[in-house]
Amino acid sequence: MRKFCCLFLAVFLAVVGAEVKLPKPRTSGGEGIFTLLEKRASGTRTGFPAGAVSDAELAAILWAATGRNRNGGGWTVPVGMGRPPHVKVYAVKNDGAFLYDGQKHALLEVNPKNVKAEITADGFVRNSSVILVFVADTAANKRAEMDNILVGAMSQNVYLAADALGVTTRYLMTLNADGIRRELKLNKTDVPLCLMPLAK
Ligand SMILES: Cc1cc2nc3c(=O)[nH]c(=O)nc-3n(C[C@H](O)[C@H](O)[C@H](O)COP(=O)(O)O)c2cc1C
Repeated sequence: MRKFCCLFLAVFLAVVGAEVKLPKPRTSGGEGIFTLLEKRASGTRTGFPAGAVSDAELAAILWAATGRNRNGGGWTVPVGMGRPPHVKVYAVKNDGAFLYDGQKHALLEVNPKNVKAEITADGFVRNSSVILVFVADTAANKRAEMDNILVGAMSQNVYLAADALGVTTRYLMTLNADGIRRELKLNKTDVPLCLMPLAK
């Protein structure tokens, strides 16, 4: 019976992928907003660090990225009428690639392999701890300009949260769209928009 259960679990995980619950995001403290606005800066291409970002730091940054930051009741990014976000965020790590589910506050595995080299040609991005990939769901939102406005606000939330945590990041439009589509198993209507590597 135990063998059967293990086999069932293995087949189940192979089909649906693992779900990794994240630690509760930090929602208070840190430096004041005006201090952060003054000191926020992108990591440089030549001096970008490669140290590990913890699950707690990643959890806080992903929570900030979605914009659903008003205790579940409202958004800090301009999403019309509070509808679900039309820009999805993926976290590409050494132990796999994951879609962030903001409702569950969990990472849903889409690929168990390290696919960093498939999604970018930039060495400093490949060497970072986690690469966030922002993907527009154009089936949900048929107005492309909305996706770009949304990702602008989401990436600013990431910049500020990362800086408050001492995590380095950088906004990049340069990406390997074909590799991202393939390795993150995107739908035909999904459009990769940008990358934000994270490291300490
Ligand atoms: C729309 C946009 C696209 C960018 N794309 C890239 C990119 O593909 N690669 C890169 O190295 N930097 C890119 N950058 C530059 C950096 O993200 C960063 O904004 C720039 O170095 C300014 O640094 P700061 O954030 O410290 O002001 C882009 C910036 C913007 C605004």
